[in-house]
Amino acid sequence: MLAPSIPGYDYGKVQRSPVTVDEFKRLQSVVGFTDDDRQALSDAGELFADEAEALVDGWRKIIGSQEPLSEWFFGPDRKPDDEYKAAVKPRFVQWVVDTFTRPFDQTWLDYQEEIALRHTPAKKNKTDGVQAPPLVPLRYVLAFAVPVIADMREHLVRKNLPVDEIERLHAAWTKAVILTLTLWSRPYTKQDLW
Ligand code: HEM
Repeated sequence: MLAPSIPGYDYGKVQRSPVTVDEFKRLQSVVGFTDDDRQALSDAGELFADEAEALVDGWRKIIGSQEPLSEWFFGPDRKPDDEYKAAVKPRFVQWVVDTFTRPFDQTWLDYQEEIALRHTPAKKNKTDGVQAPPLVPLRYVLAFAVPVIADMREHLVRKNLPVDEIERLHAAWTKAVILTLTLWSRPYTKQDLW
């Protein structure tokens, strides 16, 4: 796969995650993520090849409509930093594409750790050189799983697929999002508690 040239998108160029492929396989077993789910993600990726941006636009509308969510994009004047939002967006869109298409290997694990860090004081704001608040609190990152998961179902329904196909693709997306956020919770937790 060609690496897209998105400013700040550093897939394959970040430090090693402390989470190993073996540990991640154990987590995949816990959520029941199978080769079938991998195939379903790839199928969904083809279905939504041109719609990753539309998905992200929908989620960002939700973020923009609630101050407890939008304030993490505010500048020091407590107004939305539109340049920051615009800079983050293509990386968010690329995350959707990557979730559909990238193998869940060590490189992918490394990048999940990087994205997680970019929501915490270790790395937030640094990629874009902005002065927004230094953290997206973990509780909002986790709670946001619900719109991201539910919204996908609505998009699948609009494709007029058979019900069991909707279920198959939606189950795979749900597992992928939960696995991702489980990985992202790691840098938020105290040493050895993850
Ligand atoms: C399911 C939950 C979430 C997903 C999938 C997600 C996804 C992403 C992705 C892919 C990026 C770009 C990372 C990169 O630089 O490559 C990002 C950055 C960011 N997200 Fe999230 N996010 C989630 C929850 C949230 C929530 C709830 C908020 C705040 C309301 C938020 C605020 C931000 C901010 C401020 C950045 C920029 C961080 C930086 O300064 O580098 N995210 N998010």
